[in-house]
Amino acid sequence: MKIAIIGGGPAGLYAAILLKKQRPEAEITVYERNRADDTFGFGVVFSDATLDNFEKYDPPSYRRITQEFAYWDDIAVHFRGTVHRVGGNGFCGCSRRKLLLILQERARELGVALLFEADIDDEARFADADLVVLADGINSHFREKYIAHFQPEVDVRSNMFAWMGSTRPLDAFTFIFQETEWGPFIAHAYQYEVGRSTWIFETDPATFKRAGLEGLSEKQSADRMAEIFGWFLEGQQLLTNRSMWRNFPMIRSKRWVKDNMVLLGDAKATAHFSIGSGTKLAMEDAIALADAMHHAPTVHAALQQYEEGRREEVEKTQHAADVSLVWFEHVDRFWDFDPVQFAFGVMTRAKAITYDNLTLRAPDFVREVDRAFAKQVRARGFDVDVEKPVAPMFQPLRLREMELTNRAVVSPMCMYSAKEGMPGDFHFVHYGSRAIGGAGLIFTEMTCVSRDARITPGCTGLWNDEQEAAWRRIVDFVHANSAAKICLQLGHAGRKGATKLMWDGVDRPLEKGGWDVLSASPIPYFPDSQVPREMDRAAMDAVKAAFVAAAERGERCGFDMLELHCAHGYLLASFISPLTNRRTDAYGGSLANRLRFPLEVFEALREGWPAHKPMSVRISATDWAEGGITGDDAVAIARAFAEAGADLVDVSTGQTVRDAQPVYGRMFQTPFSDQVRNEARVATMCVGNITTADQVNTILAAGRADLVALGRPHLVDPSFTLKAAAWYGAEAVFCPPQYLPGKEQIFRNSVRDRQDFDDLKIKAKPKTRAELKAEATKPLAAE
Ligand SMILES: Cc1cc2nc3c(=O)[nH]c(=O)nc-3n(C[C@H](O)[C@H](O)[C@H](O)COP(=O)(O)OP(=O)(O)OC[C@H]3O[C@@H](n4cnc5c(N)ncnc54)[C@H](O)[C@@H]3O)c2cc1C
Ligand SMILES: Cc1cc2nc3c(=O)[nH]c(=O)nc-3n(C[C@H](O)[C@H](O)[C@H](O)COP(=O)(O)O)c2cc1C
Repeated sequence: MKIAIIGGGPAGLYAAILLKKQRPEAEITVYERNRADDTFGFGVVFSDATLDNFEKYDPPSYRRITQEFAYWDDIAVHFRGTVHRVGGNGFCGCSRRKLLLILQERARELGVALLFEADIDDEARFADADLVVLADGINSHFREKYIAHFQPEVDVRSNMFAWMGSTRPLDAFTFIFQETEWGPFIAHAYQYEVGRSTWIFETDPATFKRAGLEGLSEKQSADRMAEIFGWFLEGQQLLTNRSMWRNFPMIRSKRWVKDNMVLLGDAKATAHFSIGSGTKLAMEDAIALADAMHHAPTVHAALQQYEEGRREEVEKTQHAADVSLVWFEHVDRFWDFDPVQFAFGVMTRAKAITYDNLTLRAPDFVREVDRAFAKQVRARGFDVDVEKPVAPMFQPLRLREMELTNRAVVSPMCMYSAKEGMPGDFHFVHYGSRAIGGAGLIFTEMTCVSRDARITPGCTGLWNDEQEAAWRRIVDFVHANSAAKICLQLGHAGRKGATKLMWDGVDRPLEKGGWDVLSASPIPYFPDSQVPREMDRAAMDAVKAAFVAAAERGERCGFDMLELHCAHGYLLASFISPLTNRRTDAYGGSLANRLRFPLEVFEALREGWPAHKPMSVRISATDWAEGGITGDDAVAIARAFAEAGADLVDVSTGQTVRDAQPVYGRMFQTPFSDQVRNEARVATMCVGNITTADQVNTILAAGRADLVALGRPHLVDPSFTLKAAAWYGAEAVFCPPQYLPGKEQIFRNSVRDRQDFDDLKIKAKPKTRAELKAEATKPLAAE
């Protein structure tokens, strides 16, 4: 077998090693355009888990690599004169040059031919090769040559960055967030060998310009960085090696394989440097390719297997990298945060590290985070304990005069169980039991302002006296038997109206018994859905009046709060999104025009709703579709509603058009809440695939939302909050007297359960290499 590998970076060399081990008889050649020890960059970083993989696949190179490595466990965050350190991270660094020399040496030993100063621009010379590996890096010539086939998507990010080195010794992965007269600069730095560390500097394009970095030589820009970070460098120098400022391209390729050619490493996909995974991904690609070549019967089958098997893992890492890079791009959002909350945000930015996880690893740090959170609550007039505070989830919140005892919320969830809009026994038990279960705030399902405002025949309404009486009974029960507050969500289905019950087909039009539907524009939801009637001014007046009348009934029922539903493609949302609003009058076109009618309804409600009671608005912060609402629009939308008197923005996403492409995942909508809260400076509630109290605390402690709503988790567990309170020892959580023996038992058991759980986790966690190294070098105790 003949294998040609173009590119002698980590991907190409490691692929050569693994393939040669597998097939000693194969003729494998690596073509590298640079000279053997001619390399850019300073250090590379691997996690302990990646090193475990290297150990399994090629022990000799693993041993040499680890002999050269610097290990560390801590991450240190420097911000506004403070430093917060968190241990237990298990990382190691090594010089890129040494890594390449080790891999070259190992490849040679195995009999791989290495040809340097061989710049390949045409694969025709490899016509007799069985496999051609394209490991030619981020600017891959071959990916571009076959651009129509590989279909790369290159997302050039806005921030500028430069890789440099330094002689400054470091004992932790170090983030420095530095205020300057021009704006914020960030340094990501780590040591990779004695006396050498990698420094990646990052800043936004405006700060870059203001700092005069444009057009500076490598040396001049290094001098500028040395001035900015001089206080930390302590007289040590910055080193350069092709350290030009550039923008990071996030690359994703639709295809990785063409005939017998395969893309590997940065050539096929990149991951932002802030999660330090570029070299890891490159070498793990090589592992995946070697595995596929080992198991598949033909090269063709192996390449298919490589692409299919590897894609998910790469995309997951890229997703984590995306979330992380967006955090760094928007660091100014958090610039006025308390430093410990800021550090908590840095640690938890990419979702893998959470509040509970940090409590295990760095309990003092989390206690400080809790205290800072409690202090903010105290500053708002609550008499809470700031020395031994409860977890953020159990801290109170005030919106106007409504006080919530905790931050957990039952999200609005249609039950599709009403008859002619009447909430029945099901609703009474449903809402009542969730209130007893301890959540601070309960939302009603979308309650429709008129019969023809309903989504389905099973939706609740509030347009007549019977409905008002039924809701009052529910509200009275909640107030009499729990500490929860209850918010009425009012809505109008618009073009998604006259559809079937959820279990008969979500958003599918009713076959019989339907009613006429309205929307901003006459665009049906499905091609076979009813074509809605475009609203004229008279229809707007009628709808507005129905909202006002329903809100008046809501006030008579005793609801504590009112939410206007402007999300999910329903009537008011259909005005806001350009995908559903094609109007040419004053209600279409610009965002300001598209917001006109929803704001008019909101203002009319605010006028009638008692001034001491809060109001919120639910928005879809993105349509997840080309040409639709984006996070930036959501900030403008939130600002507009806040100016109209909204006390809280309930940040949901999507459901506007049926061909949307949402990116699901844990807490997948939280970044939008983060953006709205910290750019528009309004209180937000986030929601969406948040399933654990740990996630709730992580979100709140990092300042990504003020309230956290859970929908589906509450469907199966009315006592979600009470159970979480037991876990975190938040004794003050409400429990009705009838259930106190249950509360006492769960609180008692939780102390032990939590201890067992923590012990198990600590036991199950393998020692990091830094810990092992520290143990190995510890002097023996005198006998
Ligand atoms: C300027 C720069 C500095 C970096 N510094 C660091 C760092 O300090 N730490 C870190 O962790 N990551 C660093 N990275 C990222 C990291 O290098 C990559 O994620 C990782 O090296 C990817 O490995 P790879 O083998 O896919 O690509 P690369 O390491 O880029 O290797 C590709 C190789 O292919 C060769 N090549 C390209 N075209 C041809 C051709 N036509 N013919 C022959 N050879 C060719 C190149 O010379 C190169 O040696 C840096 C990236 C860049 C662009
Ligand atoms: C069956 C069902 C009914 C829902 N009904 C409503 C509703 O009436 N009003 C609303 O704003 N959102 C509604 N939603 C959206 C939820 O409030 C919530 O945003 C969504 O389920 C995501 O949160 P989760 O992952 O915690 O379930 C509904 C969701 C589901 C699954």
